[in-house]
Parts: sequence; structure tokens; C-alpha cells
Amino acid sequence: MINTQPAASAALSQDELKTRVGQAALQYVVAGQILGVGSGSTVNKFIDALASVRDQIKGAVSSSIASTERLQALGIEVFDSNQVERLSVYVDGADEIDHQGNMIKGGGAALTREKIVAAQSAKFVCIVDQSKLVQTLGRYPVPVEVIPMAVQRLVRQFASIGAQARVRLQDGQPLVTDNGQVILDVAGLRIWNPRAFESEVSQWPGVVTVGVFAFQQAQVCLMATASGVKTMNFY
Ligand code: A5P
Repeated sequence: MINTQPAASAALSQDELKTRVGQAALQYVVAGQILGVGSGSTVNKFIDALASVRDQIKGAVSSSIASTERLQALGIEVFDSNQVERLSVYVDGADEIDHQGNMIKGGGAALTREKIVAAQSAKFVCIVDQSKLVQTLGRYPVPVEVIPMAVQRLVRQFASIGAQARVRLQDGQPLVTDNGQVILDVAGLRIWNPRAFESEVSQWPGVVTVGVFAFQQAQVCLMATASGVKTMNFY
């Protein structure tokens, strides 16, 4: 393991908290191996920290075009997920995480590739700041990647369970994911049973990936707080 431990401090900005937790995740990087790398602003801090140990790792499997470009710009080789059978560690952020390690992900629209890389990894290390910790998932609208022709039917299907689904826009147009699909952001949910919710919605016709990660849950959460980076282990 490569070890770096950030010091505790007070009154840090959210950006600084992300930097601290990104650096703290270096302790889970295994020398000589290929690492799974997620997406988002917190992971960007982790990628920046990885640059300091780039000669000690073989490379990375990335969950988005944006992360791939950032890794490559730092001289880190990026492998296709099909070239690698098993990863020992996957480091990624989350939009919400509960006390059991279940997460909502997809705020950056990369949820499908994130779930694929998480599924081929032995250990999911989630890096967040303390604002992401919740008792019950659902305060953050759940991202769902869907096939465009199913959008309106799925909006009605979510309405039938009391939720409001909206197509995510970018510059006034539906955002198109790295996989050529669109995102529904689903508000009004209280997810008491994340596995049951993920199982059910995953079977709705037209759904590519639901942004609840209960089957690919975190084994470890590094959470940046004003008093330092705390570690939560889930079993
Ligand atoms: C990307 O699709 C997401 O799953 C991110 O991991 C999540 O949105 C957290 O992103 P931030 O670190 O930017 O908050």
C-alpha cells in the first residue's frame, strides 16, 4: 500500500475537503497494479494526487471520458475495462452515501460505466465530504440512464410510484451520456430498501442503469470533515 495521511484542520472549504479526501485515498492504491478510477470533482482531486505516485502503478481503468482524459494528461496509462479481468480497488465519489455503504451516484452522468468498473473491483473506496452522508437515500434526485425512446413511458412509470422524473438538460438540450443515452433525474423518492429499489427499477424496459449502488456498494468510505478524514468500513 502507498501511504499518505492528511492532517486534521478546521474551517476548510468544500474544495479543500475534496482535496484532502482525494489525497487520503492514495493509501488504498496498490503498487504495481491497475486501479479503477471513477468520475466527478472529488475524483479529480484523487487523480491529481495520483500523479505523485504514477510511476508506482501500472495504470487505470476509467469510468468516463473526462477521467480518461485527465489521467492521460498526467501520464497515467488508461486500459479498456475489457483488457482487465479483476481490479483490487476502485476509487470513486458519490452524491449520497448511507451508513451501510449504499450510494446514489450519477450526478456527473457517468453511472453506467461507474457501475461496470465497480462490479469488476474487489473493493470500492468511496471518497466524499461530510455533506454526502445521509440516513436514508433519496434527498438527492436519483439519476437513471435511459434509452431515449423510453423516456416518456418511464416518466409515467416513476409518477405511478409518486416520484417526479425529469430529463437532464445541458445547454437547453437533453444531455447525452458517454454511451449515447439520456439521464432522468428522479425526485421525491425515499429509498428504504436500496437493493429492492435497484432490482426493481433495473428491470423496467428502457432503463440502462439506475444510480442506486446497493449491489456494488462501498466497502470503505473516506469522509472529509472539518476535523480530518474519517474512515467508515462496511462489511
Ligand atoms: C459521476 O457520475 C458521479 O457518480 C460522481 O461520483 C458523483 O456525482 C459525485 O461527484 P462529485 O465528487 O463531483 O460530488
